[in-house]
Amino acid sequence: MGQTAAVPNDLESWWMPFTANRQFKANPRLLVGAKDMHYTTHDGRQVIDGSAGLWCVNAGHCRQPIVDAIQKQAAEMDFAPTFQMGHPKAFEFAARLAHLAPGDLKHVFFANSGSEAVDTALKIALAYHRARGEGARTRLIGRERGYHGVGFGGISVGGIVSNRKVFGPMLAGVDHLPHTHSLKDMAFSKGLPDWGAHLADDLERIVALHDASTIAAVIVEPVAGSTGVLPPPKGYLQKLRQICDKHGILLIFDEVITGFGRTGTAFAAETFGVIPDLMTTAKGLTNAAVPAAAVFTRKHVFDAFMQGPEHMIELFHGYTYSAHALACAAGLATLDVYRDEGIFENAAALAPYWEDAAHSLKGLPHVIDIRNIGIMAAIELAPRENAPTKRGYEVFVKCFEQGLMARLTGDTIALSPPLILNKGHIDEIFGILGKVLKQVD
Ligand SMILES: Cc1ncc(COP(=O)(O)O)c(C=O)c1O
Repeated sequence: MGQTAAVPNDLESWWMPFTANRQFKANPRLLVGAKDMHYTTHDGRQVIDGSAGLWCVNAGHCRQPIVDAIQKQAAEMDFAPTFQMGHPKAFEFAARLAHLAPGDLKHVFFANSGSEAVDTALKIALAYHRARGEGARTRLIGRERGYHGVGFGGISVGGIVSNRKVFGPMLAGVDHLPHTHSLKDMAFSKGLPDWGAHLADDLERIVALHDASTIAAVIVEPVAGSTGVLPPPKGYLQKLRQICDKHGILLIFDEVITGFGRTGTAFAAETFGVIPDLMTTAKGLTNAAVPAAAVFTRKHVFDAFMQGPEHMIELFHGYTYSAHALACAAGLATLDVYRDEGIFENAAALAPYWEDAAHSLKGLPHVIDIRNIGIMAAIELAPRENAPTKRGYEVFVKCFEQGLMARLTGDTIALSPPLILNKGHIDEIFGILGKVLKQVD
């Protein structure tokens, strides 16, 4: 009983997330420092951050204004409850976010992670219909190859088999649209593929099967990120919007990756000119310096809840750490950095250079597709026979050893560096990856 002395360099206790624990612990990759575009490894190497951490450090690492804001807040007020209480920075942060959002996405509900944001959005969608007297609308529609985090809501609407198959029946009443990726029809498209808008029509098939009166919401990532950067086919999101409108179905964009500049504007909704009814964000919201998430809702969604007796709680939902004081301080400082340094504009200005650099890898060994949008790209490699994911993993490890941190999904290498990058960084990232591709069989 009781505590035993910790063993130095013991790697056993931490059960690592989304990691092959035994493989990792046999050959660990440890990060001990970070500044701007680079990580420092435990053996003192500088590694360029080709993935903005996990698609989240959009303004670069350890930015002084954000560090200062967090330190100041921690000393001033560490925590304040937000159930039946408030604190000024939460209101200020929400107002600043509402100002940044397109259309009338003017109300903000805070959570702590993308997964929580997704659960929150799905619950708001269900409660919205019920508040309007359409409580039979309970079905949720996700999409194959969608990633919406790891809560039961997120994995139910998500479309990644390994994230679903061992976790039982999940939420009832969920259907999936087909994913939008087809190598045959769109390989090496630059930006949005020409092919595939018709795939949105599958929503009509689902409506015909279940009737619109049973469907609450459709959730999609405007650009599927975690399954390897799948930009939407031209016209696809517009079509989804039209079909949702026609049938009174809410459209949710999961902008956990695309939010805060990744596609060259604040949100992909703006880039693609399609306004969803709800929008989930996290990651870049606080530049990942403090965990936080925000669900944006349009006015008509919010207004539907502001109807009953005024002393009644309108939505029985929230987290102890919703609008955490440190997160709000970090988020406000992050928004200042984004604005003052023109970070979204930098992403937009560099997107063509980024696209050319990504597509310059065409023709290198094993490369079967290259996809890009804004400052995101994916290089898809042919899987090794009978050993899917092994080639991708080798490329990923070699990149890290040679100074590039990339993101691996199956045999696809995804890139999404901090948006403070310059052309030199882009050359460095694709230079290392190109070199590594020639070294792997
Ligand atoms: C689109 C999308 N939604 C939700 C999530 C889940 O976010 P978190 O890991 O913060 O729960 C992610 C994470 O990558 C994501 O990419």
